[in-house]
Amino acid sequence: MTRPVAVVTGASAGIGDAFARLLAARAYDVVVVARDVARLEALAKELHDRENVDVEVMGADLTDPAPLKRVEQRLSDPMRPIEILINNAGFGVYGAFHESDVEAEMRVVQLNVLALTRLTRVALGPMVQRGEGAILNVSSIGGFQPTPMMATYGATKAYVTSFTQSVHEEVANSGVKVSCLCPGFTRTEFQQRSNIEADNMPGFVWQTAEEVAAAGLAGLLKNRALIVPGALNKMTASAVGVMPNVVARKTSALMAKFYK
Ligand SMILES: NC(=O)c1ccc[n+]([C@@H]2O[C@H](COP(=O)([O-])OP(=O)(O)OC[C@H]3O[C@@H](n4cnc5c(N)ncnc54)[C@H](OP(=O)(O)O)[C@@H]3O)[C@@H](O)[C@H]2O)c1
Repeated sequence: MTRPVAVVTGASAGIGDAFARLLAARAYDVVVVARDVARLEALAKELHDRENVDVEVMGADLTDPAPLKRVEQRLSDPMRPIEILINNAGFGVYGAFHESDVEAEMRVVQLNVLALTRLTRVALGPMVQRGEGAILNVSSIGGFQPTPMMATYGATKAYVTSFTQSVHEEVANSGVKVSCLCPGFTRTEFQQRSNIEADNMPGFVWQTAEEVAAAGLAGLLKNRALIVPGALNKMTASAVGVMPNVVARKTSALMAKFYK
């Protein structure tokens, strides 16, 4: 029996790991992509043993053109069509932009924007031709307003949110689902990797990676353009939508001091 195939980028940790587990439990074969091959192989073995699905490991730094090309080729292979693509890999850099490491900032753009855009394009063409398939791009509630102290990160997520909703409309009648997932604070390795000390944030703001992935997959399968997981994040997103830009910007700047 052939099973549908799902590709998850950034599957070695956090929300991507949760997506890979969720999809395997639903009898998808999974292609897991990230840089840390040892972690991906451990995940692949665990999922194969437990769920009896095939898990293909692709070690790739998606900011590097050659490995990115390999992932593109896998996504566009007509002999092995992809049913679901989850563009989840992403990171940010905390700090004042004028003091930042510009190379790290460029990697944020390369991963969150350029790789995501290329992978969406290469997966979407064959899906539209077949009239089926689904792409979920992982953005952030940080994409709804400016994010002082994470200026580049917030801007990349604003791009992902806008881009994904546009593509959602373009293919609305094609049979292909395209959704944007906008998580809020989620307990993963993101904070440590992005140099955020979020210990000050109260417990109620946090979601687990499993909660976020479950909301993301449910929303994708219903072809929701925008998925904001959790009641608090939904309220925040709605409030930002109606407040004057200056209030959103200043509140965001205050928050950034609080969570450092
Ligand atoms: N956690 C939050 O609070 C939060 C909130 C809003 C949005 N998000 C978004 O959710 C997504 C997942 O983040 P997370 O919270 O799960 O973070 P995480 O725990 O740090 O996981 C990030 C994943 O991305 C992979 N990755 C990083 N750089 C990569 C690169 N150059 N090439 C390929 N893979 C790369 C990492 O694997 P390797 O190191 O093995 O490559 C890892 O698997 C991101 O897009 C993030 O912006 C997170």
